[in-house]
Amino acid sequence: MCYSGLLPWYDQHKRVLPFRGIRDPYGIWVSEIMLQQTRTETVAGYYTRFLSLFPTVSALAAAPEEAVLKAWEGLGYYSRARNLHRAAQVIAAQYGGIFPGDYEAIRALPGVGDYTAAAVSSIAFGLPYPAIDGNLTRVISRVHGIREDVGIPSVKRRIAELAMAHIDRERPGDWNQALMDLGATVCVPGTPDCARCPLAAGCDACAEEDADLLPVRAAAKPPVPVDVGVGLVTCGDRILMQRRDAALLRGLWVFFLMEGDASRESMQKKLRSLGLDAAYKTDLGEARHVFTHRVWNMRLYHFEAPEPIPLQDFSWVDAEQLRALPLPTAMRAAKKAAEAILNAAPCIK
Ligand code: ADE
Repeated sequence: MCYSGLLPWYDQHKRVLPFRGIRDPYGIWVSEIMLQQTRTETVAGYYTRFLSLFPTVSALAAAPEEAVLKAWEGLGYYSRARNLHRAAQVIAAQYGGIFPGDYEAIRALPGVGDYTAAAVSSIAFGLPYPAIDGNLTRVISRVHGIREDVGIPSVKRRIAELAMAHIDRERPGDWNQALMDLGATVCVPGTPDCARCPLAAGCDACAEEDADLLPVRAAAKPPVPVDVGVGLVTCGDRILMQRRDAALLRGLWVFFLMEGDASRESMQKKLRSLGLDAAYKTDLGEARHVFTHRVWNMRLYHFEAPEPIPLQDFSWVDAEQLRALPLPTAMRAAKKAAEAILNAAPCIK
């Protein structure tokens, strides 16, 4: 009853998005993984390019991981790309490249949680699973007047039960996407536009005039600041790069990094301990990157090495090779500085 105005509103006001209206479960899955932590406007461009590079599950499964990470470059949360790639290999190996059509099989794929399994099941296969993301949580907590912390497991369960009870059995995918669009455009965080809302007549928070206070959420812990030294270690027209093995940014390429100590002296000492007697050239300023749980406060330096000696886990690359590597957004300022240095360097090939 309280959701009866939702689908008519969606039919009139739904957002035009490149992954809307498609039935291909692979494309829907890719879009939902991208949309997990990234804004819809940003995803649109990435989605189209990703699908043209990897048009099918089999194409994605057969691609090298580095190519998948390169296509993901700039989207962040790179474990999504690694899991997408692994899941494509599971679908290729276990299901002959055909995307599985039941909730449990989808939920079992790497990188797929309750939300993504429900979104794909409902949108691609018409199965009645509510896709509970931040938007649905906000709309449902307002409509039903839930005034407890939505991070508490029992409150989460109540929201899931309410969504399950109200989802449209004929059009579950549209019902989910209608709530996502409503949450993104009308029932927004902060002050919602209740005058334009198709659910206002049956909305508890609208009646109580406290929608701006809902949902209740405990404050998130602020990310921990970490000093990071970023060394642009060049040798002529080459620069020293490392493929990350740590959980944060695994598989992506970074410059010579020191986490926890950003002093020039420590950087130089570390380089020497690796056998590289690199001379300090100049300071390249500072940069900052905020991850979910950490903030990198970076200091950038340029060092010049006398010889490109081979180092375990590192590669010396030229400007062209640097462009082809997948680098995280955290390295954007350093990459720009590196390109300027390499482009000005004499060729030593
Ligand atoms: N956010 C996550 N999935 C979405 C979808 N299918 N439509 C709109 N917003 C979304």
